[in-house]
Amino acid sequence: MKILLLGSNGQVGWALQRSLAPLGSVTAATRTGDDRFSGDLEKPREMMQTIRRLAPDVIVNAAAYTAVDQAETDASRARTVNAEAVAMLAREAFLMGAWFIHYSTDYVFNGGGVQPWHEEDVPSPLNVYGHTKLDGERAILDSGCRHLTFRTSWVYSALGNNFIRTMLRLAAERETLQVINDQHGAPTGASLIADVTAHALKQVIRQPKIGGLYHLAAAGETTWYGYAHRVIERARQADWPVRVNRDNLTPVSTDAFPTKAQRPHNSRLDCSRLEQAFGLQMPPWEQGVDHALAEILACEMRTSV
Ligand SMILES: NC(=O)c1ccc[n+]([C@@H]2O[C@H](COP(=O)([O-])OP(=O)(O)OC[C@H]3O[C@@H](n4cnc5c(N)ncnc54)[C@H](OP(=O)(O)O)[C@@H]3O)[C@@H](O)[C@H]2O)c1
Repeated sequence: MKILLLGSNGQVGWALQRSLAPLGSVTAATRTGDDRFSGDLEKPREMMQTIRRLAPDVIVNAAAYTAVDQAETDASRARTVNAEAVAMLAREAFLMGAWFIHYSTDYVFNGGGVQPWHEEDVPSPLNVYGHTKLDGERAILDSGCRHLTFRTSWVYSALGNNFIRTMLRLAAERETLQVINDQHGAPTGASLIADVTAHALKQVIRQPKIGGLYHLAAAGETTWYGYAHRVIERARQADWPVRVNRDNLTPVSTDAFPTKAQRPHNSRLDCSRLEQAFGLQMPPWEQGVDHALAEILACEMRTSV
């Protein structure tokens, strides 16, 4: 099976390189890499040539414009990458009968209520990023291609900059720390997303009828404060030099940190459709966070020796 992977240097894309490897030959196309296989979603003509040259059985798109605040003032680029390029990829997948695997976001919802969102709930994004991701989802449906689209939330990995690393750094630098406690969701590891993708891809090829839109997040829920608390306390137990003491980690409301883009308060995703269709059980969010944290701490402590 020939798999074209886009966005392979991102959190999910990096993890996908490992998870997809046993399924076939994976060609990773990035916007900075190989001239023969351009993976730049802002260059549709080159991108199309890459697809036609490779003639993949599966196109996996882990690339996206993910800078949520920046998208508010850079809407045109966000739209190009998250909507127009996705429409083109889906069309190409349709034309060559390839599967299209794509990722979307909890930010397609407006964050109202307290119940976990189901796939059929009506989307109503609060920000430009959410709108462009929703347009991408719709373009996939319009194309008629065979697809798996996974909406996920609060992605982290042991690589690169993310919330876990930011909390570790701030906890080591500061004596007091305020963290938002009124946005609810589930931190989801890039490796979990990649493993579920590989598992689902294998099944959907045998059973095309189970293709479609799925919510994919770790089980349980927390807030950014709960997430930070977990990371910092685990790090303290592992002898990471934590300066902030327990009483000075303070929960605050979203208003305390104004951002350009409005964010949903309720990012809970109901993943039962995914679990039933693919015979999976999503692990608790704490499990993946502890694992990634252990990897990050081991790496940081090794480099500081
Ligand atoms: N991060 C989250 O919290 C989150 C939450 C919900 C859903 N999602 C969705 O999950 C998917 C994966 O997200 P992630 O966290 O892995 O994102 P990420 O770490 O920000 O990686 C995004 C990747 O997209 C690539 N990219 C950006 N613009 C591109 C372009 N014009 N052409 C080609 N590649 C381009 C980047 O390339 P460079 O390496 O060259 O910069 C990067 O490798 C995305 O669809 C995202 O919308 C993410």
